[in-house]
Amino acid sequence: MKIMLAPMEGVVDHLMRDMLTRVGGFDQCVTEFVRVVEQKLPKKTFYRICPELANGGKTPSGVPVRVQLLGQHPQWLAENALTAIELGSPGVDLNFGCPAKTVNKSKGGAVLLKDTQTLYDIVKAVRSAVDDSQPVSAKIRLGFEDKSLAIENACAIAEAGASELVVHARTKVEGYKPPAYWEWIAKIKSHTSIPLVANGEIWSEQNALQCKQESGCDNLMVGRGALALPNLAKCIRDGETPMPWPEVAALLIQYSGFEIYGDKGRYYPNRIKQWCGYLKRQYLEAEVLFNDIRRLTNAQEIVDVLRRQTELESYAT
Ligand SMILES: Cc1cc2nc3c(=O)[nH]c(=O)nc-3n(C[C@H](O)[C@H](O)[C@H](O)COP(=O)(O)O)c2cc1C
Repeated sequence: MKIMLAPMEGVVDHLMRDMLTRVGGFDQCVTEFVRVVEQKLPKKTFYRICPELANGGKTPSGVPVRVQLLGQHPQWLAENALTAIELGSPGVDLNFGCPAKTVNKSKGGAVLLKDTQTLYDIVKAVRSAVDDSQPVSAKIRLGFEDKSLAIENACAIAEAGASELVVHARTKVEGYKPPAYWEWIAKIKSHTSIPLVANGEIWSEQNALQCKQESGCDNLMVGRGALALPNLAKCIRDGETPMPWPEVAALLIQYSGFEIYGDKGRYYPNRIKQWCGYLKRQYLEAEVLFNDIRRLTNAQEIVDVLRRQTELESYAT
């Protein structure tokens, strides 16, 4: 079984990847998408989204991080895939699932799921450009409005030579609302032999077991679930019990140190609130914390609240 940490633009940056892979259980990460229009991007764009390139394409705890590209032009995607590989990305991933409106206007992401031929052309061009030793993976949803092209799209991506296919088991229109249609991954599996990774709505060990059963797929990718429960990958892999709140609070403080030091605190207030928003699903304490920090915009004030709250809790226990 392989467990991957999902790419999440604006949420899972290199600091979050560092922290979650230190907690452990992950075999691989994928970066937030690098948007490719009609140009060869400068190296600094790749280093900004994937600082791990300076560390051999791995997080500090040694988990490989693959660069993800998003765009519509086969040749430009191929050129930029070459740059990512030259800089040390362990393979390259292609995003065919992003629902964002601005992305779709420029015809990248999920809108391409309406156009099987373009999916094929993109994968083929990238596969031909990149050395055979380097994986070229793709990430899709089951379709844009409906699932009528799900199997055709997966088969086209496989025929074009992709090494692996992550399937987020919902259409673009279904967004992020439960359920995820894991049984559709089994349907895809019965039509193609490309290695598959099941994704969508895995929040617990129990969900992971059910997803594996319904999809027939051993490899999993988890996104929001790992933010709600930082040791989710270990719960799935080793049957670990969910991390208790004091350990999560310690991670929040550690992450605050990383974020403020790493990005000079610019993104910190939003990032920590976003993360708390996910933690609320698993921990009542996160709800209290979230209410205490939601109106704060200053990084130091937020850290002070965090420290105060965790000190109070350690007195109470
Ligand atoms: C805030 C957010 C940002 C995302 N950014 C990306 C992205 O950059 N690339 C991508 O392929 N998928 C992206 N996704 C989709 C996730 O990788 C994943 O497919 C989706 O959240 C379903 O998995 P989950 O139920 O485990 O969260 C994003 C999802 C969210 C919620």
